[in-house]
Amino acid sequence: MLPFLLRTKVFALSLLLCSSSIYVASGESCGCSSLVIPVHVDVLIPKDPADPFGGLKSNASNLRRLDETYGVFGVFCQPNIVSPKSADAIQLLVHGFSYSNQYWSPPTEEFRNHSYTGFACNRGLSSLAIDLVGVGLSTRPVNASDVQYATNAAAVSQLAVTSRLLEGAQSPFDGFILTGELIVEPGAPIPGPATTARDDTPLRWGDLDPDYVTTSNRSMFYPLDPTSFSPRMLTFDNFTKDVGSLATGLQVGATSLRTHYTGPVAKVVGSEDQLFCAGTGRCADVAVLTAAERFLWREARSFDVFVAQGSGHDLNLDFFAEGPFNTFVDLVEQFTGV
Ligand SMILES: *[C@@H]1O[C@H](CO)[C@@H](O)[C@H](O)[C@H]1NC(C)=O
Ligand SMILES: *[C@@H]1O[C@H](CO)[C@@H](O)[C@H](O)[C@H]1NC(C)=O
Ligand SMILES: *[C@@H]1O[C@H](CO)[C@@H](O)[C@H](O)[C@H]1NC(C)=O
Ligand SMILES: *[C@@H]1O[C@H](CO)[C@@H](O)[C@H](O)[C@H]1NC(C)=O
Ligand SMILES: *[C@@H]1O[C@H](CO)[C@@H](O)[C@H](O)[C@H]1NC(C)=O
Repeated sequence: MLPFLLRTKVFALSLLLCSSSIYVASGESCGCSSLVIPVHVDVLIPKDPADPFGGLKSNASNLRRLDETYGVFGVFCQPNIVSPKSADAIQLLVHGFSYSNQYWSPPTEEFRNHSYTGFACNRGLSSLAIDLVGVGLSTRPVNASDVQYATNAAAVSQLAVTSRLLEGAQSPFDGFILTGELIVEPGAPIPGPATTARDDTPLRWGDLDPDYVTTSNRSMFYPLDPTSFSPRMLTFDNFTKDVGSLATGLQVGATSLRTHYTGPVAKVVGSEDQLFCAGTGRCADVAVLTAAERFLWREARSFDVFVAQGSGHDLNLDFFAEGPFNTFVDLVEQFTGV
């Protein structure tokens, strides 16, 4: 789960609201609309989609150019009473592997209190939760090998640049909050087993390139302790899951390269995250963990790691969600100076 945070002006955002079927995800305090934003991607990606560094360490002969325009689907939500603090900050919410924008606001009354979108709205913060390229209602390239790390990095950055009307090389992001994610060894397999999507759910995905994959057994995204989450959440998760490209799974090591980003960065991970923490001892000492993770973000203005006690990998979907939700909002307020 990688939510990105950016800051913009409301007028710039309203330019984006080309379609506005109303989709009320989060109750009376929040107005939401869905939209499709055309995003132009012109990027070099590895010819070999299994490149563990996603092309970031490749020379030109190993890269190919991808020049496409994709429709990126998103749900934009803003508080009905726009307070000053919500006026110029937008949270760009990005889901993780085999999820979609619905991760940020499960569209069912029963799980209303698992909606981070609604929680943030109640605290006066706007958000745009998107489907990554290849996922949900965004464009799904026929050839899954077009969906690589650089493809989505370019799409998400372009989206942020467009909404801020920026020029030049400045990062469009005022800060990053990275959730359910710690350093992985380059070349390590996708955390958790992946299944070919068309074999997993033929009725829904029977026509897809076999390099679109999904996760059949979702248990690893929840704490081991079955009393930590609703069994109905697991069922709901199974029915609303999505696909990802095999390449983005194989390239997860691209997230563990050093960056030159200079804004504020935080990571939030659950103590019971079966992919990164539970049973490893890795998350027991927050100071040690922070020092290890900071290595990648040496130039960041600030860098903190938060270990959410009791939470699993999907911080939003178990009974401990309120803890991380408060952490996210506090960080956004801190990062945007409101
Ligand atoms: C580019 O990479 C290939 C394969 O890794 C290597 O054989 C080749 O020598 C490299 N070329 C340059 C100019 O570095
Ligand atoms: C997908 O695109 C790559 C690069 O152009 C090509 O090598 C591969 O054969 C394509 N795969 C399919 C299934 O068309
Ligand atoms: C999913 O995996 C867990 C172990 O991680 C196992 O206990 C459970 O039985 C599996 N569920 C299904 C439906 O296969
Ligand atoms: C997941 O959903 C599929 C239908 O999409 C169903 O066949 C399968 O039994 C479900 N698995 C679990 C563990 O609920
Ligand atoms: C949501 O509400 C249900 C029922 O009231 C409760 O069991 C659950 O702990 C709540 N979840 C969160 C994240 O607050």
